[in-house]
Amino acid sequence: MMDMLLEVREISACYGRVDALRNVSLRVAGGEIVTVVGANGAGKSTLLLSILGVVSPTRGQIAFAGQDITRWSVHQRLGSGLVLVPEGRQILVSMTIEENLLLGAHMRRDGGVVRKELEGIYDRFPNLARHRSHNASCLSGGEQQMLALGRAMLAKPRLLMMDEPSLGLSPLFVTKVFELIEEYNRDGLSVLLIEQNTSHALKIAHRATVLELGRVAMEGEPSAMAGSARLQQAYLGGAV
Ligand SMILES: Nc1ncnc2c1ncn2[C@@H]1O[C@H](COP(=O)(O)OP(=O)(O)OP(=O)(O)O)[C@@H](O)[C@H]1O
Ligand SMILES: [Mg+2]
Repeated sequence: MMDMLLEVREISACYGRVDALRNVSLRVAGGEIVTVVGANGAGKSTLLLSILGVVSPTRGQIAFAGQDITRWSVHQRLGSGLVLVPEGRQILVSMTIEENLLLGAHMRRDGGVVRKELEGIYDRFPNLARHRSHNASCLSGGEQQMLALGRAMLAKPRLLMMDEPSLGLSPLFVTKVFELIEEYNRDGLSVLLIEQNTSHALKIAHRATVLELGRVAMEGEPSAMAGSARLQQAYLGGAV
């Protein structure tokens, strides 16, 4: 087997009587961008929340960096380098940009290194640097997504999971977000990217999985998948 960073084996999850995931398997190798696409309600966020341990799957296993983390707490998982940029970004608008960024580093003990990395993030995001001591409420949606990404990077991810980072952004920022993901990936970051923006996601991913009503409908080469009839069908959510 390849050197798998993340391996999700046949997990199922539900909310009360609602089945959100059924027998879903997924792998991310070190250095890969893997994308999971699917319509509203397909189970994409539930998959990420299950990997992070916020949702407890009713069956199946999850392995990360060679360890079975199925029964680990969220805290342990965060500590092992599983980092999520959540749906809707979850910026604390009553805190400053710098305070928001440093939240990403709250579990780290290497303050000096964090300081240096913070400067690196300011180099990459001049807008955040310029407003570092202002409330995050002054940022546009696109800039807030940059902030959420910067905050996640300060948590030192071994796997960065992103839940629909392009949602609600202007075309300019959509392009920017995907460029940044590719840039970080070129530097070695492994990424699990959830998207409804399939055309962009399939362009930058090394492998892709299509979720449809909580099940894996398709997986493989992104280039082969773009424009496939099966993918279009998944977007109808099997409602036909
Ligand atoms: N907290 C919850 N309580 C009850 N049902 C939920 C809850 N969260 C999600 N669901 C249901 O679980 C299923 C999967 O939802 P999930 O949020 O994982 O989908 P998604 O693919 O992320 O959708 P979206 O694209 O809208 O974000 C849906 O049927 C949804 O209605
Ligand atoms: Mg979602």
